[in-house]
Formats: sequence, structure tokens, C-alpha cells
Amino acid sequence: MTRGVAILGSTGSIGKSALAVLGRQRERFRVVALTAQANRAALERQSAEWAPQLAGLTCERGPEFLVEAATHPDAHIVVNAVVGAAGLDATLAALRAGKRVALANKETLVMAGDLVRAAAEAGGGELVPVDSEHSAVLQCLAGSPATLGRLILTASGGPFRTWEAGRIATATLAEALKHPTWSMGSKVTVDSATLANKALELIEAHHLFRLGYDRLEAVVHPQSIVHAFVEFCDGSVIAQLGFPTMELPILYALTHPERLPDVGVRRFDPVAAGPLTFEPVRSDVFRAFAAGVAAGRAGGTAPAVFNAANEVAVAAFLAGQVPFGRIAEAIERVLDDHRHEPVRDLETVRAADQWARGRAREVLQ
Ligand SMILES: NC(=O)c1ccc[n+]([C@@H]2O[C@H](COP(=O)([O-])OP(=O)(O)OC[C@H]3O[C@@H](n4cnc5c(N)ncnc54)[C@H](OP(=O)(O)O)[C@@H]3O)[C@@H](O)[C@H]2O)c1
Repeated sequence: MTRGVAILGSTGSIGKSALAVLGRQRERFRVVALTAQANRAALERQSAEWAPQLAGLTCERGPEFLVEAATHPDAHIVVNAVVGAAGLDATLAALRAGKRVALANKETLVMAGDLVRAAAEAGGGELVPVDSEHSAVLQCLAGSPATLGRLILTASGGPFRTWEAGRIATATLAEALKHPTWSMGSKVTVDSATLANKALELIEAHHLFRLGYDRLEAVVHPQSIVHAFVEFCDGSVIAQLGFPTMELPILYALTHPERLPDVGVRRFDPVAAGPLTFEPVRSDVFRAFAAGVAAGRAGGTAPAVFNAANEVAVAAFLAGQVPFGRIAEAIERVLDDHRHEPVRDLETVRAADQWARGRAREVLQ
């Protein structure tokens, strides 16, 4: 029997890769729902090919359409490939409805990790990461999660890895969007240039693998071949490697803990991968990274505030309203002004998110 898949954000970079993966696995999976924000032409093309039971634009049908698609009775797996906080309700609803959520939408876990975990426990849903670093960890852990000691996630370092701080502050949009190793949507590409993305991922890892921040690290690895290192309690380290492609982590999120043979991605070649190098993260220069990690350590509402301030600042940068350097500055100011509190419920998270968005807009004026 084929398994039903709902793809939220099917017209984006991850959404399209997910459909490419499913296109090679038609005897195993069928598409039951597709959503996009506003890209009607692309959604119509996808719908014509996949004939889902449900398809629509959230700009027309409202944010609750994401929840409708995420809880579709024929969907066994929900690929959440929406960008930003907009994906939160759908993740919670799918987990409460007992679905597997293949999660690309990392903002969801950063904002409300404890609530997401509680929703999975309450509804019997399962959260499987799509992010390549977290997929790498999951694969390294197979069979022995209890002996996990420390995680080291790799970061490409982005386009400004070797730049001086002053030059980074005035980098142009075209420079920020020129990612050295990955082709992705514009928001996550800018997050990779500020390294806010790696802070989001450390917070994501904290929730997924239940590790304190003293056991979570990031290292710059410009080749993006090693996706993560897992250190076990005896000091042994296992790493997961591969040429950069999101198709493998997406497929693994669909089939975990099983693997499928011959899935049609480029075979690994250590010689072609070339020398692999590692450097520390320059957290004095990439201040959005440092602010994000500090927000993760602070806990409570601080990660949601970090995420919201980052989303607003990145949107302003993408719209040409502020220079690149203002992104990290705005995040720091909003976090400085925030009095964080424990997350009691979804309302606490929403209030912190809304406050941070308003404050970030003021700071960026
Ligand atoms: N791209 C990657 O390689 C990669 C890797 C790891 C993790 N991720 C994470 O995966 C998520 C998606 O990234 P992406 O690069 O695929 O983004 P993207 O290319 O910008 O695609 C975003 C998708 O979500 C839809 N969307 C945008 N805003 C929405 C809203 N407010 N409500 C509902 N739907 C909305 C878009 O629809 P329209 O097309 O109609 O605008 C599109 O289908 C992000 O959380 C990112 O951090 C991405």
C-alpha cells in the first residue's frame, strides 16, 4: 500500500526537492495534499502532475489551510517545508493527529520546542528532521541514542566566511544570496550568510536530541561534505558524509529507520570530495550566531524572540530596506529589550513572537 504524503510549501526549494524524491518512489508514496503561499502557476503544474486530493494557496484560503492539509486523513507523512513561523500550527496539528512530520521548517522547533514535543507525545505523532545536519545525527545514532555524548554540527560558513567584519556589514543582497555550497530559498540563504541558521539549528538539535547546550557545538566546514559529528559517551565519533543535496535527508525523513536502495543521487567519491577542512565559528564577527546561541541557552521565550526578530530583519534586508549589518544588530537589540519568561502555552509563544516582530520593526526604522 502506498503511503500518503502532504507537502506544505511544495513550491519552495525543499518542497520541489521532496516532489523530485517522490517522483522516483511512486510505488511507495502518493501525494495527497499540496500547499503554496502565492505561486499559483507552480502549484497548478504540480497538481496536474500529482492529482492530490487537496491543493491550495494560503494567501487565499488563510493560514488554517495549512492545518487542514497537515491533518488530511489520508496523509501518513507531512513534509513541512514552509518558511518561518507560519509553519507552527500545522506542525502541532499534524503531531497531535498522530502523523509523521518530516520537518524542514526549523523555525517551528526554535519557537516552541517544548510544545511541539508535548504535541507529539499527546497525539502519537513523530518528528523526523529534514535539515541535513540533524538527519546526519539521526543516522549516526541509529541503534544507540542512549550513549550520545556530544553533537558537532557543521556550517559551510556562508559567502562571508573569510571576510572582515566591516566589509560584511555592507554586503549586498546579491553577495548574501551567493551561497558557496547549497541552493536554497532566500530566507534560509540569508540565515546562512549571517550564521543565524546555525544558531537555529543548534536550538533545533537541543529539542530533537534532548541535549544541553554544553554538549552542542558548531564548526565551520567550507566543503559541506561532513554534515554532523556524533560523539558517544566513550569518546568515539561517527560522522555522516555526502555531497550536498537535500534529496537524501528528505528521503530518509520519509523512510526512517529504513533505507531504500539506488535512490538516484550522485554516488559519494572521497577523491572528488577533496580535502576536508574545519575552522572555528567566528562568533565575534557573526553576531547573529552568538545572539541565537545565547537565546537558546536562556530558554523560555528567548528563542521565539530571536526567531521573530531574525525573520523581520531578514525580510527588511531582502526588501532592500536595511544593510546586511543591521540584521545582527536588530536581533541583539530586540533580545536585549526582551524580558524572557517560561513558555507556559502557545499564547506565551505567540505574544513573545508578536512583541519581537513589533520591536524589530521599530529598531529597523
Ligand atoms: N532549502 C534548503 O535547502 C533547506 C535546507 C534545510 C532546511 N530548510 C528549511 O526549510 C524551510 C523551507 O525552506 P525553503 O528554502 O524551501 O524556502 P522557500 O524556497 O522560500 O519555500 C517556502 C515555501 O513555503 C511557502 N510559504 C512562504 N511563506 C508562507 C506562509 N506565510 N504561509 C504558508 N506558506 C508559505 C512558499 O510558497 P510560495 O512559493 O507560493 O511563496 C514555498 O512553497 C525553511 O524553514 C528552511 O530553513 C531549507
